[in-house]
Amino acid sequence: MNILVTGGAGYIGSHTCFEMLQENYNIIVYDNLSNSSLEALKRVEKLTGKKIEFIEGDLLDIEKLEEVFQNEKFDAVIHFAGLKAVGESVQKPLKYYDNNVTGTLNLLKLMQNHNVKELVFSSSATVYGVPKELPLTESSPRSTTNPYGTSKLVIEYILEDLAKSDPEWKIISLRYFNPIGAHKSGEIGEDPNGIPNNLLPYISQVAVKLRKNVNVFGNDYDTKDGTGVRDYIHVVDLAMGHVFALKYLKDSQEQGFIPINLGTGNGYSVLEMIKAFEKASKTIIPYQIVERRDGDIAECYADPICAYNKLGWKAQNSLEDMCQDAWNWQKNNPTGYNKK
Ligand code: NAD
Ligand code: UFG
Repeated sequence: MNILVTGGAGYIGSHTCFEMLQENYNIIVYDNLSNSSLEALKRVEKLTGKKIEFIEGDLLDIEKLEEVFQNEKFDAVIHFAGLKAVGESVQKPLKYYDNNVTGTLNLLKLMQNHNVKELVFSSSATVYGVPKELPLTESSPRSTTNPYGTSKLVIEYILEDLAKSDPEWKIISLRYFNPIGAHKSGEIGEDPNGIPNNLLPYISQVAVKLRKNVNVFGNDYDTKDGTGVRDYIHVVDLAMGHVFALKYLKDSQEQGFIPINLGTGNGYSVLEMIKAFEKASKTIIPYQIVERRDGDIAECYADPICAYNKLGWKAQNSLEDMCQDAWNWQKNNPTGYNKK
């Protein structure tokens, strides 16, 4: 099967490419490398002994993307490409809407014109906004708190309308909770640009002494210890979710827009994450409590049963595995790709 993977050089994309190659999919990655390194895919090729066709290109460059569709016949598309920094999206909303929404529209138009109607889309738990109920199910109400989140929700609305307009479309919108960790080999992992926005890469950089201490954003939330609670999921489990989704698109009769949570169903607090990482890395992670971060919610975790019922997928890795593998990647690659 020939699969176009947009944004395949990124954190989740590279781990998914690894798992897809293990299942013998033929992969064409289209990525502008705006937030990633080609080194990630080279390492995936080395680990698997298999080839990935890479095309450096932007989703906003519709002519280049058209060429890709003219040259190859795809069975399905996995669409990771997008900008994801919440804070930056507040500063630069037009950049986010253009890249994420216009980029997706370009892709969908070409898919329709070339009769490729199977899609796995990278959505996010961010489409649930401030949760009204926990755990979050696929039918929980949607809303957003920042332009990044709105770009994901707008794309979901577009996908729903598209699926309604033409029953041949099969679209799985995977709503990721908080992916962390790295491949067991320690060869591929998360390589954020500049100061990490997310908790785990920040903790990892403190562990290798690139940063002094973790800033814990508030300890007065209505949660088990006052710090924010999230559903952290191993990136390899998340990657496997895409392989299961591709199989479902091929084997199931279900058509239309199919939203599916990818989470574990467990919530851990910031302080629990720091403790777990200390244990896995046998380091001390100094931290200080600071002000809440604007736009943060207290608590968020998934009801993952739909993924199990439909796809047969369930997260396999524990919190210990996630921290162990994140640490293994960080200590082998303290400053990320290309700088080993
Ligand atoms: P990432 O930044 O590592 O990967 C995204 C990839 O897309 C990068 O390789 C980047 O170069 C590429 N890209 C961005 N804009 C592009 C464009 N216009 N044309 C071509 N390539 C482009 O991010 P990730 O963590 O791997 O996330 C993948 C997807 O999952 C994103 O859509 C993100 O919004 C979504 N998501 C991520 C998280 C998370 O916490 N990591 C959570 C929920 C959803
Ligand atoms: N946190 C800190 N200090 C930090 C970073 C984070 O205390 O330096 C706290 C946050 O306040 C939150 C928790 O750690 O309570 C997790 O924060 P992250 O930034 O790692 O993750 P978020 O849940 O805020 O957001 C992430 C992605 C979003 C995505 C969302 C749901 O960044 O893009 O998960 O999938 F939408």
